[in-house]
Amino acid sequence: MIILGIETSCDETAAAVVRDGRFVLSNIIRSQVDLHERYGGVVPELASRRHVTSIVPVLDLALEQAGIGPSVIDAIAVTEGPGLAGSLLVGINVAKTLAFVWEKPLIPVNHLEGHIYANWLTLPGQDEVPEPTFPLVCLIVSGGHTELVLMRGHGDYVLLGRTPDDAAGEAFDKAARLLGLGFPGGPAIQKAAEQGRPGRFSLPRAWLGESYDFSFSGLKTALLRLLEQYQRRPARRVAAGQPFPEYVAPEYGPSVPIADLAAEFQAAVVEVLTEKTARAAREFGATMVLLAGGVAANAALRQRLREISPVPVRYPPPILCTDNAAMIAGAAYYLAQRGVRADLDLDVHAHLPLVTRTLLRAGEA
Ligand code: KG4
Ligand code: ZN
Repeated sequence: MIILGIETSCDETAAAVVRDGRFVLSNIIRSQVDLHERYGGVVPELASRRHVTSIVPVLDLALEQAGIGPSVIDAIAVTEGPGLAGSLLVGINVAKTLAFVWEKPLIPVNHLEGHIYANWLTLPGQDEVPEPTFPLVCLIVSGGHTELVLMRGHGDYVLLGRTPDDAAGEAFDKAARLLGLGFPGGPAIQKAAEQGRPGRFSLPRAWLGESYDFSFSGLKTALLRLLEQYQRRPARRVAAGQPFPEYVAPEYGPSVPIADLAAEFQAAVVEVLTEKTARAAREFGATMVLLAGGVAANAALRQRLREISPVPVRYPPPILCTDNAAMIAGAAYYLAQRGVRADLDLDVHAHLPLVTRTLLRAGEA
């Protein structure tokens, strides 16, 4: 089954062709980083406008790279949410139009489910990635979400924990802003941390008792307090004469230990994420642990989880961790097996939870 996937939920315009939920035939991603970096974050209005101009060339390239035309496509998959409404609308409208004109079924995909299914994908030229086995525990860490999920089969999710405040990626992005490291923050913090030493400064770990929930907002505030000792000019937003408030990074004296602060920040995030994930794997008898979402690209997170997990750890290659459409086409294959289809009146869902089941202890699961 050949599925064309479309993803426009945030600031990447992406289209991809995937066979049988496993094999990537093409994976085109047009990033908008150049557009948003001066604002220190994604500006929704600009993002949706850029999707409008990028989506058709990106689609064209995805079909060309896969070497296929519409006749061999079996279905069109599209992200229906969660994400920025104006951005999602662009992808959904294009997907609906193609489904209508080409007379193909339309498959709606939850963006978070897409991130999980990136673990089923094999890139062109890569050795075949074996299918993950159930039950498994999956840590989804992206710019908008931090969710720990028990997956007992395809589409069968139990939510073990989540964050009521900043998502892990958001925490990385905000910390990078405070440190003046640019956008997106995750890769910038990782790079700075490689030159630094965790432990020179002490940042808090929010364990939240025995729960599998996460909280990173206190960590961000603690970093801000540490930094204030070094700051000459605080970060500020400048509205005057700008179509959007422009972000001006803070300015530090010459002696600010950016690398050590980045290293401690990353260590604090990684420690909480990995300890809880490994504990959940033990408690729920997981056969493996999966990482998913943009933060799954983080080398320190991958390494620490491999060290402490009681079961094998799997994660996608970095290009499939951050937003892409191959993961959407991949997840759609398994949805299609279960008969999931959308009508042509499909709407966007800016807030779309992956799971509705509540926390269970091991015995109840
Ligand atoms: O999944 P994603 O591309 O978009 C959302 O669905 O949100 O995730 C983007 C997030 C950003 O917050 C970015 O800073 C973070 O993933 N990220 C990383 C790394 N690469 C991307 N965080 C830590 N380390 C990285 N290497
Ligand atoms: Zn994402």
